[in-house]
Amino acid sequence: MAKKLNERSVLQIASEALPFAKTGGLADVLGALPPALARLGWDVTVVTPRYRGVTAGSLVERFPVTVGGFAADAGFFEAPLPDGARAILVDCPDLYDRDALYGVDNVDYTDNARRFAFLVRAALEVAARRAAAPSIVHVHDWQAGVAPVYLRTLYAGHPVLGGTRTVFTIHNLAYQGLFEPDWLPRIDLGWDEFTVDRMEYWSRISFLKGGINDATLLTTVSPRYAEEIQTPQLGFGFDGILRARRADLVGILNGIDTHEWDPAGDRFIPRPYSADDLSGKAAAKAAVLERYGLPSDADALKRPLVGMVSRMVDQKGFDLIAELSEDLLRLEASFVVLGTGDARYQDLWTALAAERPDRIGARIGFDEALAHLIEAGADLFLMPSRFEPCGLNQMYSMRYGTIPVVHAVGGLADTVTPKTGFVFTDYSPPALLGALTRALECFGNRQRWLALQRAGMTQDFSWDRSAKEYVKIYERALKRTRRA
Ligand code: ADP
Ligand code: GLC
Repeated sequence: MAKKLNERSVLQIASEALPFAKTGGLADVLGALPPALARLGWDVTVVTPRYRGVTAGSLVERFPVTVGGFAADAGFFEAPLPDGARAILVDCPDLYDRDALYGVDNVDYTDNARRFAFLVRAALEVAARRAAAPSIVHVHDWQAGVAPVYLRTLYAGHPVLGGTRTVFTIHNLAYQGLFEPDWLPRIDLGWDEFTVDRMEYWSRISFLKGGINDATLLTTVSPRYAEEIQTPQLGFGFDGILRARRADLVGILNGIDTHEWDPAGDRFIPRPYSADDLSGKAAAKAAVLERYGLPSDADALKRPLVGMVSRMVDQKGFDLIAELSEDLLRLEASFVVLGTGDARYQDLWTALAAERPDRIGARIGFDEALAHLIEAGADLFLMPSRFEPCGLNQMYSMRYGTIPVVHAVGGLADTVTPKTGFVFTDYSPPALLGALTRALECFGNRQRWLALQRAGMTQDFSWDRSAKEYVKIYERALKRTRRA
């Protein structure tokens, strides 16, 4: 007997989602893609943990969920999202009521395998209790990578969920969800997963690999990155299995939330502005200089201001900056930097700010309001990433008339052109310095600068276009023969 399908409905699972919890771009995507899919007529449910401090939603269900020997009474809080999408926040204080999402001081929590296997189990159990299955289960990054594995194993013969097609989106291949193999029985998986064509990865298990092998279709967050991850240089050891699944792998460029990131209506900036009237941008520049305690007199306002908002990790090109630090101090520019991450990069920027307190401001921390103010107040935005699956900040920058300086890689290469920014190809300190120097020179040419700003500000980075691409993927997955 054919099971009941809830047509055009998608269950998404992710470890972070706006407006509830965020450490990076994954949360932005989960905040904007579900409403965009809902606008296209899809029924969208996003399942994500109810971390410490999240107060949204009302309790709609409570039932026990078990993962291996771990059993907990999980609470399910439902919260509406824009355009009719909804979120379900999984409440399990033992697992999620903690200081941070993944770990503290760059050390992961030792039970992350359990924490995210539990999230997936809880999400699938909620779906299993409904009369009709979602047509698609769409899961994001390693934290949700066991969902396709569970559907192939635990739920293979399940009356509601058996055979459900899955889409796995890779936002970042560098995070692989690697754990000791003795976690297998503790997350209800058999030792037969511990083989090279399943979850085994160099004597450990990888949640990411589970997702890649078992999902019906795979996507990643830009067309260029979809190509790059099939090469040994940027495949992080997964290029072989990605090449093997190349026919099922599609790059879909992220959009941006054009309501949240809109210089004409941004609650975090002093005066609204637009491509037609950029005058409010100067007020944001003065405000951000003041916030950093940097001079904001006429000379300072005339000097180009370079901004950075970033996780301070190797991915983001901080090693190039470290090599160039002496040169940066000599440039005719000011810098404002916001981020958290590796101690050595935090220390680097703190030391640079101490050396040039008149020119360089560094804030170590996570600050949504300040991120908006930097996007608006800076003239240039620096994103020299070694690799970048998509990157959102360069798109925010262009929308705010802030010119990006980027390494031509991944989503940066797909979104920034010489008409909208400054691009360097070699991943090397001189190449970065060259691009930055060209940008600073151009800043002196008001006509050219304005043309760059307007070209960036009038581009369409809205989610509607990308959401349609996801719908095509869902439809393609639905045509696949049922796996179970
Ligand atoms: P990634 O997800 O690799 O960190 P993205 O460019 O896709 O890179 O997204 C990063 C998101 O996180 C952006 O919305 C950016 O503004 C935000 N962000 C990063 N660091 C901070 C910070 N320290 N404070 C506030 N927002 C931050
Ligand atoms: C990851 C990537 C980033 C991407 C984001 C959202 O964190 O590092 O490039 O924009 O996911 O897809």
